[in-house]
Amino acid sequence: KKMGSYHITVLKGDGIGPDVVTEAMGVLECVGKKYGHDFVFNEKLAGGCAYDAYGEPLPEETLEACKNSDAILLGAVGGPKWDHLPANLRPEAGALLKLRSSLGLYANLRPAIIHKALSDASPIKPEIIGDSLDILVVRELTGGIYFGERGYREGKHGEEAYDVEAYSEFEIKRIAVQAFEAAMKRNKHVTSIDKANVLESSKLWRRTVTEVAKDYPEVELDHMYVDNAAMQLVRNPKHFDVIVTSNIFGDIISDEASQITGSIGMLPSASLADGAFGMYEPIHGSAPDIAGKDMANPIATILSAAMLLKFSFGLVAESQAIEDAVTKVLDAGYRTPDIYSEGTKKIGTKEMGKRICDAINA
Ligand code: NAI
Ligand code: MG
Repeated sequence: KKMGSYHITVLKGDGIGPDVVTEAMGVLECVGKKYGHDFVFNEKLAGGCAYDAYGEPLPEETLEACKNSDAILLGAVGGPKWDHLPANLRPEAGALLKLRSSLGLYANLRPAIIHKALSDASPIKPEIIGDSLDILVVRELTGGIYFGERGYREGKHGEEAYDVEAYSEFEIKRIAVQAFEAAMKRNKHVTSIDKANVLESSKLWRRTVTEVAKDYPEVELDHMYVDNAAMQLVRNPKHFDVIVTSNIFGDIISDEASQITGSIGMLPSASLADGAFGMYEPIHGSAPDIAGKDMANPIATILSAAMLLKFSFGLVAESQAIEDAVTKVLDAGYRTPDIYSEGTKKIGTKEMGKRICDAINA
């Protein structure tokens, strides 16, 4: 690999995936040109499009390409066309979940950011949001109750079902490290969410996170019970900088946090493995209703590309340049239809991508 050259596997996927990923690639090319990096894209099929071409949603060739690259940029997969297929052939389980587990992507990072220009999109009162809001949820993605022992058994009153929440010190430690590392690049505040007043797994969680915190003396750590956290997120969202939590609590809390920002077309995500490897994707799906119509908001995917630069390549200034460009274009009043309001300028997917490039070059 030559210096300054980065290999990105690109999985455009289905529906609006190609629409939004194409714009994110254009933005990465702009950044590459401006800062002197060579981003090498290797496009592969995953999801419904791969099923149509090869009869499987995640061909071996695609998985190999992912394993041999520095990072993955994904659009979205799935759609009604493939809903009739058995689970293992469906794009969501057969491609996405398989990618996450085969690549060991145990840390799910979801920033919830409200841009000042879009503050009226939030269901939270403006005086609570203030100028802006910026929370990062770090969710454990490959452990806990979703992966614990489960089954049915004969109980005192007949059949009962059970699911076990189990966490190892190893699993808690590595997700905590991801959270503290992220906090070091932000406002140096981690809130760990658990239910340590009831659950043994949460007691180990709290003890282990507290241990990890000792390696990050600059970062302030607080602990919160999940029920209180759910309340504080809407009551006082400004309390939070980085949230770290288990798989199931993170599933719920990250959806709550994302909705505070009000717009699905704006929110990026990263799923990280050990080291710098990761997969980056918007949190929205394939939106078949607007696919190929130049209507999709590409900002979630463009901000996912910004996360990729920061977390996988350590290109902090370049990542910031993308975020700043997005802010500039929103401040200038340009909106895709999903975030349009009266008095702003409605533009399409391609023009949004181009304007963000122009703002990077300005
Ligand atoms: P969705 O996120 O695709 O769409 C929900 C609504 O938001 C639709 O009205 C859509 O038009 C709109 N929307 C989504 N992204 C947008 C964007 N960038 N710009 C403007 N509007 C946007 O969720 P839905 O409809 O539940 O799922 C559609 C398909 O996507 C399903 O097959 C689902 O399984 C799949 N899916 C895939 C995901 C992934 O690949 N990570 C995640 C969620 C859903
Ligand atoms: Mg969920």
